[in-house]
Amino acid sequence: MNFLESLQQTQEFATLPTVASKLLQMLDRDDMDVRMLARHIEQDVAIASKVVRVANSPIFGLRIPVASVSHAIMTIGMTRVTNIVLGVSIFSKFVYLSTLAGDFLDRFWIHSAVTAALARAIATKARLDFQEMEFLSGLVHDVGKLAMLQADAQRFKSVQENIAQGGGELDAELEIFGATHTEAGEIIANIWKLPPQVQGMIRLHHDRTCSIEDISALLVVVRLADLYAETMGYGIGETGDLRDELNYWWQRFSAVAPANVLQSSDSLSHELEGELGSAQALIAALTSN
Ligand SMILES: [Fe+2]
Ligand SMILES: [Fe+2]
Repeated sequence: MNFLESLQQTQEFATLPTVASKLLQMLDRDDMDVRMLARHIEQDVAIASKVVRVANSPIFGLRIPVASVSHAIMTIGMTRVTNIVLGVSIFSKFVYLSTLAGDFLDRFWIHSAVTAALARAIATKARLDFQEMEFLSGLVHDVGKLAMLQADAQRFKSVQENIAQGGGELDAELEIFGATHTEAGEIIANIWKLPPQVQGMIRLHHDRTCSIEDISALLVVVRLADLYAETMGYGIGETGDLRDELNYWWQRFSAVAPANVLQSSDSLSHELEGELGSAQALIAALTSN
């Protein structure tokens, strides 16, 4: 069985945290009511308090802090809270994959959290509303890498070494795992039943050959955030010409956000540096007990 097949079939890695999977089941029901949903999330005290802390972190810019999950649902609505809960519970489940190499994992989650924070900031600046899907996408866009690490830490190390020696990220993954982290990530997001837009974002975030119809505003915003995170020192070793990559996605940006109010990639990058404090606050909220 190859890597992707085993990911698909064993679903060992891809079991969603209980809160999140129950939440998605409840959302599917016609008779779902908001109080029931809030009560359900609040049963997991650790996740509920983390959701409240994250929702109050500066990246979401709430004018009045929320005191509970039900309060958050009343203030910003169910869809936003659902996407925040999904992000927080996935992060909390996988942040301490205890048996695995600590150093990469730390950098991985910091990269993911900074990407989430910058994606939220870009969306706000560009006046785009993704209902916090950009936050969720930022946190999970590279989750396929964790699946590789979990499947075979030794081979994952070879991928990292290969990249450190200047090999292309996706080429190294293909050579050693027979698949890329984008393919693995899409399978996981699909098993998790994350919103289709988030699944598409994961699948396409390194793809420069897809047609313009396949490029969503969410994809472009999160990919730009991903690249800015890399260039600002919160990377996980993406190789290649990052400047060229940024230019490419910046150009796509005007196609998907015609009313783009942002001036240039450089000025955006500059403005985003001012958001790094918010990113740190988000990391503190995500990793709090
Ligand atoms: Fe990636
Ligand atoms: Fe990334």
